[in-house]
Amino acid sequence: MRRVGCSDSVRTKMKSSFIFNPPGAPMIVCVCEGLNERRIREQIAAGCGNLRELGRKCGAGTQCGACSKTLLRMIETQRSTDQAPPAR
Ligand code: FES
Repeated sequence: MRRVGCSDSVRTKMKSSFIFNPPGAPMIVCVCEGLNERRIREQIAAGCGNLRELGRKCGAGTQCGACSKTLLRMIETQRSTDQAPPAR
């Protein structure tokens, strides 16, 4: 398992994402790649069904790995939504 660290460059990106992510804007999920929730949901909806595919498509989760749990949760949520029976 890869160790999760926080280098100076990641800390700098995190600070800038908090500063430049205005209220109401989609939440930044992957700080290292500057990817917000909306962008990642689009990739999942387009067929990315696991972390490896997400990483290949948009780079999410390919740097420090701190966002991996959130990415997995987003993939699982999308899967369970897709498998839910249609509302009557
Ligand atoms: S936050 Fe570092 S890889 Fe996503």
